[in-house]
Amino acid sequence: MREIIITIDGQQVKAREGISILEAAKRAGIEIPHLCYRDDLTPLAACRLCVVEVEGARTLVASCAYPIADKMVIRTDTKRVQEARRLVIEFLLSDHPYDCMTCEKSGSCLLEKYAYDFGIRKPRFEGEKHQYEIRQANPFFERDYNKCILCGRCVTVCHEVQYCAAVDYARRGFATKIAAPFDRSMQETPCVFCGNCVSVCPVGALTEKAGRFQGRE
Ligand code: SF4
Ligand code: SF4
Ligand code: FES
Repeated sequence: MREIIITIDGQQVKAREGISILEAAKRAGIEIPHLCYRDDLTPLAACRLCVVEVEGARTLVASCAYPIADKMVIRTDTKRVQEARRLVIEFLLSDHPYDCMTCEKSGSCLLEKYAYDFGIRKPRFEGEKHQYEIRQANPFFERDYNKCILCGRCVTVCHEVQYCAAVDYARRGFATKIAAPFDRSMQETPCVFCGNCVSVCPVGALTEKAGRFQGRE
């Protein structure tokens, strides 16, 4: 791939054609907030926290999945961008249990980090909250989908890295959730309990049982 020149926040950046805006920005020392993206997994562009402005584009674009092109002009820190990102965090928090005090992920949770970074004490929106039963039947990890932000990392790692396809998105709209086929327990799926899904989950939805109340990450 050839090297091209793009402009990010007024700074001229040389980068490999075809890489994502988020990656190009990162290499130029510009951090774009992201929840669902990991550089070792195929991007799903599920969370929209990484949105940026691209000159000429009608809408904000998800920088984790949008490839750079020659002479592209990108803005990562405008009022419009910041408001859109803030909204993403507020919507996620509006359907979150707020039990950070005893959550195993507190301190390394990305939702907690961005709520702090955006200074969101309380979301502006109150609405229906999911009331899922915590799934604890397997001996290795707990699944608390009340905390799930539907980022899809667990699905991708299980399909792409472990080749198990033990979990996937199920249902639609507000009812969308991550589930094993037919919502079965993990023991009834091809799951090999590798723990990859637990390690990539950015929030406290998937946690190891063995480490419960033994100290956080
Ligand atoms: S433990 Fe491994 S195999 Fe089981 S759901 Fe998670 S990633 Fe898939
Ligand atoms: S369980 Fe975790 S990794 Fe999986 S979609 Fe929900 S938040 Fe993402
Ligand atoms: S990080 Fe880009 S859409 Fe989630």
